[in-house]
Amino acid sequence: MTTATARAYPNIALVKYWGKQDEDLILPVAGSLSLTLDAFPTTTTVALDAATGTDTDIDTFSLNGAVASADATGRVTRFLDRVRELAGSETRATVTSTNEAPTGAGLASSASGFAALATAAAAAYGLDLDRRDLSRLARRGSGSASRSLVDGLAVWHAGDDAHSYAEAVAGPDMRMVIVTVDTAQKAVSSRAAMRRTALTSPFFPAWISSTEESLAAMLEACAADDFTRVGRITESHALRMHAVIQSCDPPIRYLAPTSVAVFDAVAALREQGLEAYSTADAGPNVAVIVRPEQAEDLRDALAGFGSVRLVGAGDGARLIDAGA
Ligand code: PMV
Repeated sequence: MTTATARAYPNIALVKYWGKQDEDLILPVAGSLSLTLDAFPTTTTVALDAATGTDTDIDTFSLNGAVASADATGRVTRFLDRVRELAGSETRATVTSTNEAPTGAGLASSASGFAALATAAAAAYGLDLDRRDLSRLARRGSGSASRSLVDGLAVWHAGDDAHSYAEAVAGPDMRMVIVTVDTAQKAVSSRAAMRRTALTSPFFPAWISSTEESLAAMLEACAADDFTRVGRITESHALRMHAVIQSCDPPIRYLAPTSVAVFDAVAALREQGLEAYSTADAGPNVAVIVRPEQAEDLRDALAGFGSVRLVGAGDGARLIDAGA
């Protein structure tokens, strides 16, 4: 097969990944847990140049119909180099991607992007990888992408290269309301901000140990099907991540005043019996988990803060066209 198309969805972490113990292999300092969404997919086609007749010495990458930046293309090429190394191939590829989420705004487009790219590229280059190895491969593009190989709730294990992959966990049924406060590209990439946190935050060692504790507690709460505990851990862990990020030198603050207002509004709704809990990635947008039966009420209650979208648990990355 020399052309393949895959689709993947973003995921939002309930226990966050923030910090690498190995920058090249993208091994995290601690495990994390996320929900793969059923909205904002990335669809990516990888066509080997041998198949298209464009025999070049560079990969080409287009995103949403436009030629991608040199930076983005460089990241795709470095990722494809890894695939080519595994496949014993030197053939360049034409990569065409469409992304339904605003790129770079903390809606995890790098997760869906590299999960789709890993799945399509592995098929195009003829690699026979199971889901675990596809998760390990996607991890090399962007850590959080390892989790977008998995349906619904996913735990991504810390560990060495062989053991750092994501797999499914059972847990409470939930929905998520995504409140898009701002779609602008973030000022500091998560990659650079993670590095700065590890190098300059005096709180980083405590972040690592407390994340391990949060993940253990989260796995217990999931196994007990306990939405309330899942929610409490989710909100407190998100605020801890933003706290450690703000403690960098020079500091980085991703939450906007409106993001904080959403956290406050959700806390007030909880007092009134609408049980929901907030989280936010490396950007100002807020994702709020809620029980299925209260999801529409939550969406309506948060509509004044930005554009709101009610989403549920979605599928891990899949090949949608195995091509020729
Ligand atoms: O995979 P990256 O390098 O884009 O890092 C994502 C980090 C967060 O989204 C902030 C947290 C997470 O666990 O997804």
